[in-house]
Amino acid sequence: MLIGVTREATSGETRVSATPETVGRLTALGYDVLVESGAGTAADFADDAYVAAGAAVGTTDQAWGADVVFTVNAPTGEQLDALKAGATLVGLLSPGLRPDLVEQLASRPITALAMDAVPRISRAQSLDVLSSMANIAGYRAVIEAAHAFGRFFTGQVTAAGKVPPATVLVAGAGVAGLAAIGCAQSLGAIVLATDPRPEVADQVRSLGGEYLPVESADVEVSATGYAKEMSEDYNARAAALYARQCPKVDIIVTTALIPGRPAPRLITAEMVASMRPGSVIVDMAAQQGGNVEGTVPGEVIATGNQVTIIGYTDLAGRLPAQASQLYGTNLVNLMKLLTPGKDGQLVLDLDDVVQRGIAVVHDGEKTWPPPPVQVSVAPAAGPPVKVEPKQPPKPKRPERLFPVVALGAVLLFLITAFSPNELLTHFFVFALAIVIGYYVIGHVHHALHTPLLSVTNAISGIIVVGALLQIGHHDTTISVLSFVAILVASINVFGGFTVTRRMLRMFTRS
Ligand code: NAI
Repeated sequence: MLIGVTREATSGETRVSATPETVGRLTALGYDVLVESGAGTAADFADDAYVAAGAAVGTTDQAWGADVVFTVNAPTGEQLDALKAGATLVGLLSPGLRPDLVEQLASRPITALAMDAVPRISRAQSLDVLSSMANIAGYRAVIEAAHAFGRFFTGQVTAAGKVPPATVLVAGAGVAGLAAIGCAQSLGAIVLATDPRPEVADQVRSLGGEYLPVESADVEVSATGYAKEMSEDYNARAAALYARQCPKVDIIVTTALIPGRPAPRLITAEMVASMRPGSVIVDMAAQQGGNVEGTVPGEVIATGNQVTIIGYTDLAGRLPAQASQLYGTNLVNLMKLLTPGKDGQLVLDLDDVVQRGIAVVHDGEKTWPPPPVQVSVAPAAGPPVKVEPKQPPKPKRPERLFPVVALGAVLLFLITAFSPNELLTHFFVFALAIVIGYYVIGHVHHALHTPLLSVTNAISGIIVVGALLQIGHHDTTISVLSFVAILVASINVFGGFTVTRRMLRMFTRS
């Protein structure tokens, strides 16, 4: 089958649906690839690079007339007319928001797959374009803020004076928010973040940020992984938090979204007015209505008190090469799923929840909307487990131990009666060492087991030296015992070194 990679017609679109690298992976799956001339120019991928990767370069009609057509944005009516019967169209089709487009697609004998409808389940993560783009957009939001902010992000002590670090507040710590936290932290800023899902607190801290909780009764670990519409109490407390933080922070990045709803309004005009001149806000929810009062989608505006509000809606596209690479990789992962025979033949299995989820039209038949997919991060409740009441411990019967104790006493008597004095001393030292060793080592804290390993290595070293001195003894028993001691102690020494090396290798950068 032939895959056509189209040149984006949407004005301002910089991304392309395949890169030379992903073309190589598509041909490895058995497909022929044809790239529309100039498709990768805005993302710095020249036609020659595609040819070198194994693709052909062709015209618009050839790309749109392929068996499988890759695009980034939804096609125009004219582009749809260029699709051949039986073709499969793959792109960001926003079927939930564009019922008109769904009808247009369904009026043709084609199959249409929406990459922005991939169910957000673990198995589908490698195809999840929304996450790929949110990750890039979060990073780029901080870069845009740094560009508009007239100061350093990192604190510095210079001969000319001390520069304090910038403080960045990230509202909403999902995929985009976490990317923004990581980027701002790596630029040296102090990062604060808040989110109604308390489970993100550890993720924020792991990236070096400080989590600001909103102490409200309706804050609970989300069962789906997504936030719900919050109560009035939560919103009032969150507003108080933003009102406290706005005069103190330099940069605010808002990413708050609730699936299927307009973006929640977090920052009011009064809060913006309380910010210091030169502060910057990046409203990543601009397209969904904005988290900030006064955001203009796609625009940068300056308020009366010199606060810049950035409402760009194409943040991912502002890193076109990276965005194309990740989008192209998501498409390769989709094609892997749709090409079970690795023979260049696309097979759509509508019984598979991921493939069903993205199918908008199948062979001219409308398949949108798909049945809802159960998304759950909380473990499903299993059948009730019957807990057996604990039986009281059986009383110990000391009389059972009598024969063992008696046998030990007889053995001890025989050893002391018939062995030479020297062996007796060694025997008592040995028995005492076992008792003390058992109690001392048994009580060493787990965290100290590594130093303990070094100590046992040192003891094994002493044993090896002692045994080497004895191995030439004229008594064969002593020589044999020395040999065994050297062998066992060496296993401990060299085994210890091997384990330590393996542990250290876990911490070295590849
Ligand atoms: P999103 O884009 O729907 O929302 C962004 C963030 O805004 C979320 O963290 C949400 O909690 C937060 N938010 C909502 N209301 C808010 C409010 N009033 N104030 C402040 N923040 C608010 O979510 P996103 O980033 O797409 O993903 C959220 C989570 O979903 C991820 O952390 C992950 O656990 C899960 N996920 C799973 C995927 C998979 O398994 N394939 C793919 C993507 C996400």
